[in-house]
Amino acid sequence: MLTNFLTTADWTRDELEGLIASALRFKSGEDASKPLAGKSIALVFFNPSLRTRASMQVGIYELGGNAVVLEPGGTSWTLEHRAGVVMDGDKTEHVAEFVRVLGRYCAAIGVRTFAALKSWEEERRDPVLSAFAEYADVPLINLESAMHHPCQSLADMMTIREKFGDGKKRVSLVWAWHPKPLPMAVPNSFALAAAQMGHELTIAHPPGYELDDALMHEINTRAFDAGSVVRVTNDVDEAFDGAEVVYAKSWGSRHFYGAPEDDIETRAPFRQEWIVDEAKMARTTDDSVFMHCLPVRRNVIVTDHVIDSGASVVIDEAENRLHAQKAIMARLLKDEGLLKDEG
Ligand code: CP
Repeated sequence: MLTNFLTTADWTRDELEGLIASALRFKSGEDASKPLAGKSIALVFFNPSLRTRASMQVGIYELGGNAVVLEPGGTSWTLEHRAGVVMDGDKTEHVAEFVRVLGRYCAAIGVRTFAALKSWEEERRDPVLSAFAEYADVPLINLESAMHHPCQSLADMMTIREKFGDGKKRVSLVWAWHPKPLPMAVPNSFALAAAQMGHELTIAHPPGYELDDALMHEINTRAFDAGSVVRVTNDVDEAFDGAEVVYAKSWGSRHFYGAPEDDIETRAPFRQEWIVDEAKMARTTDDSVFMHCLPVRRNVIVTDHVIDSGASVVIDEAENRLHAQKAIMARLLKDEGLLKDEG
């Protein structure tokens, strides 16, 4: 069976540990292998990116390969992903052909496709990523979909490992105010990966900003399997008390998909209460770290003081995207090679 990297839920804790170990070897220079020599990888971006795009392009180069960057609706044709539709609208090409054609040129495909925040029931099923997975006959890498950003969460787990070493840490995922509703992929994937790695996870958000129910069940199950627990709170201070890792992120309420103005009105009272500032960080441990996937709005999500302090590891976290993704690509291509060897 084809190995994809769509969500860390498809990977065991041991496999994730293996990827982190590999990423650390790439980072230290111990592993300078070039498993992509002579191969190309397609990177499909429906949405903007700095870190994901640059780190994938650099990572592919450093592994000896070639990156083919495509932007549907920009530098390539507009794409339809739904099955059975009459394509007499504004979409020129179907994912069914797009993905299989790319598979004839490229050894793997990465795709970024954000939630449009219009229909919760539809988008929680990750329809565009699922369509890519249905047709792909080469490994597929999720570069952030409507529900998951596993490359980010692997780099996040690697960063926690680097800063604190092995073992369970007190990790808090903390909602933050933002002028507009944002997708939930990053908090979903961070919470899931932290649970899988056995960290003592607190998820803090205002009422109404709960993560997906099925995903929360998965997060709780994975935490239990890893010998840990997950605590959910609406009390922002509780998230900071004794935390070793503060992971800030804003996300939109699933109750307001399709009605952003209602979300904006609902979140307004939480602006000052939920910003990451010096006073809140003072509630954490002496060696705590501040994390954010970036891009971040300064003095909205986090104050200048905190993000510029010694506790902030946001730049290391961004660097680790490069090493983590090299580990992912090397592993997927190795699995693919083994499959071909087996005939
Ligand atoms: N964190 C992250 O995925 O950054 P970009 O959106 O810039 O790729």
